[in-house]
Amino acid sequence: MKTPRSLATSIVLTLLAAATCMAQTSPVFRLDGGNSTYAFGVNERRELQPLYWGGRLGARDGIPPAHSFPEMASFDSSYTTTPQEYASWGAGLFTEPALKVTFPDGNRDLVLHFVSATPNGPQAVDVLLKDISREIYVTLRYSMDPETGILARSAEIENREKQPVVIEQAAAAQWTLPPARYTLNYLTGRWAGEWTLNQEPILGGARVIESRRGTTGHQANPWFAISRDDSHASVGPFAAGEEHGEVWFGALAWSGSWRITVERTQRDAVRVTGGFNPFDFGYNLNPGEHLETPVFYGGYSDHGLGGASRLLHRFEIARILPHAPDPKPRPVIYNSWEATEFNVNEAGQMALAEKAASIGVDRFVMDDGWFGQRKDDHAGLGDWYVNKEKFPHGLKPLIDKVHSLGMDFGLWVEPEMVNPDSDLYRKHPDWVLNFPGRPRSESRNQLVLNLARPDVRDYIEGFLDKLLTENDIAFLKWDYNRNWSEPGWDQVPVDEQKRVYVEFIRNLYSILAELRKKHPKIEIESCSGGGGRVDLGILRYADEVWPSDNTDPFDRLSMQDGFTYAYTPQIMMAWVTDSPHWLNNKRSTSLTYRMLSSMQGSLGIGANLNHWTAEDFATAKRLIAAYHSAQRTIVRGDLYRLISPRDGSEFSSTETVSSDKSRAVVFAFANATQEGRGFPLLQLEGLDPAAEYKLSWIEGKARPDTPEIASGAWWMRHGLQLELRGDFQAAAFRPDRQQ
Ligand code: GLA
Repeated sequence: MKTPRSLATSIVLTLLAAATCMAQTSPVFRLDGGNSTYAFGVNERRELQPLYWGGRLGARDGIPPAHSFPEMASFDSSYTTTPQEYASWGAGLFTEPALKVTFPDGNRDLVLHFVSATPNGPQAVDVLLKDISREIYVTLRYSMDPETGILARSAEIENREKQPVVIEQAAAAQWTLPPARYTLNYLTGRWAGEWTLNQEPILGGARVIESRRGTTGHQANPWFAISRDDSHASVGPFAAGEEHGEVWFGALAWSGSWRITVERTQRDAVRVTGGFNPFDFGYNLNPGEHLETPVFYGGYSDHGLGGASRLLHRFEIARILPHAPDPKPRPVIYNSWEATEFNVNEAGQMALAEKAASIGVDRFVMDDGWFGQRKDDHAGLGDWYVNKEKFPHGLKPLIDKVHSLGMDFGLWVEPEMVNPDSDLYRKHPDWVLNFPGRPRSESRNQLVLNLARPDVRDYIEGFLDKLLTENDIAFLKWDYNRNWSEPGWDQVPVDEQKRVYVEFIRNLYSILAELRKKHPKIEIESCSGGGGRVDLGILRYADEVWPSDNTDPFDRLSMQDGFTYAYTPQIMMAWVTDSPHWLNNKRSTSLTYRMLSSMQGSLGIGANLNHWTAEDFATAKRLIAAYHSAQRTIVRGDLYRLISPRDGSEFSSTETVSSDKSRAVVFAFANATQEGRGFPLLQLEGLDPAAEYKLSWIEGKARPDTPEIASGAWWMRHGLQLELRGDFQAAAFRPDRQQ
């Protein structure tokens, strides 16, 4: 959706008006973008107080200035009942603080007051706060995206005292919603079971979603959506639905330990606080130093969870991803991991490459096993030289072969890890996270290199730079196969050691940024044993992600459904692998079902092509061609989750519609129908009701009396009846607007 010129002008004027207001004693700041307005002000105590977050207000509407709330009882002082934009722990605050600090003299009281504000772009403002007596300054940054109304918020904490202070807790932002009944939506999981959408009422107390693992984690993802239950458009206890009702959502751009706390206050308002995880935190901030928090993005939709995810998808494409605002759709890849595991060699990979090229694959990716003494997961990580037994002439012959077949070449790496059985570890045993004299717990026989160390950081950047300079590599699958343990960093003074939680991630980002600068054509996938590192922080440097090691096509339907609440299908890699599948007691599914399940995202093939029949090759070739011609609509269009596969649903269906509404692609799955039930009436969404659309079938069919051409209104209101039932059946079709 483009912002009309008049609207853009009004945003600028609003900001100017806000800037003018700053001279007043109770300034009010207002940011408008997309269909949202966000406003906050300075109350009579000079605290920064939220005033409004929701649907867009009229351009001339005034926002009343902030007033602190009264004490509710002697147990709840005004400081705790009054919501703040960034509440520091002090003065009797009992709700979750954004900032908590200990001073060297033992003082732990911090009370932030407004100092000044500086417009920082047409929809952006920096607000400076300072403690009432100490020289601790906090700059809150606000920047609203004019298209989606998604607001980027972060904080920079500065120590202008003469001595260090310890930051025990630092959020990126706090969001406040007015008193109402709400449902919290959040994503949890585990290895091979990521992306479960949880929905629960927000009752008294707090719900914490977090990672203490030094990384984003499979177990919870730094995203939330809060739907309003009692909005006019909703019904039932978990009401604001898929396409109706008010939803506030947020995503934290951080790939280290993080925490989001959702609490219902004594006044029944909801506050969301998110940023660095305070668990084992303790950032020693020296005089003159700054600590910059991650960015916490927040947005609003009055079109339910579907509307919220469409805004996020658009935002990720337009503002976050490396080639924003127009990252190109992902090449269809082949990856041999599930076919060969560590058993890679020149002849075997070349044979697979030939077969992959014959079905229309664009990119051939060699996975784990090509380097060092890597025969299995016991050895080799850290030794990033080509294994001469497997590739006697280096990688060049394979890369040349892949190029001659019309594909580009990608390679698997796991740069942050080391096996104790490696040359690197034998040479640098001190390079791993550890506490001296304590055990070094291994997972998958590997340890985590301490990227916070400048020498480790430089080693990693150096070997990757060399690899990319010496070989024509278009793509890196960047893996990360365990979480932290014993996160010690003994090369720096004791009071600096906990900085590892911040410096590790900053160095990871800086390596990625440098590599992308030096090798502008490189594309990168963020993988962490599946979906363990997917967040808006890594997505500034990664073009795509691997959502899960679980490639069972039926399981993937629910995972992909969960994934798309927070992330765009553009980055959602989905491979077609072998059947029977290794999980779920070797469930068997047809190649067509597997292909259609994966075609909902960015398609890849991960099967052992040496076992395919001529019919399999023909099916895959036909469906890859169909995918190529529909891909842009699938991964860049507006996504409607028509029928959810969650909770053991017999059926599921998704639809994506191009932004000009001229094309759509619909996928439908019957997973294990019962009692002869037919597929539910499929009513499409997002088409132009007045335009005519013609259906063309990629796979499957509708009931014989279905018209071939009908209006958008017909497809959306009357709907169509698919002929789809049984176990693991799939259909896909394209409604195309007629000229
Ligand atoms: C992780 C990845 C897999 C594969 C293996 C290789 O588990 O998620 O896709 O690359 O590592 O060891």
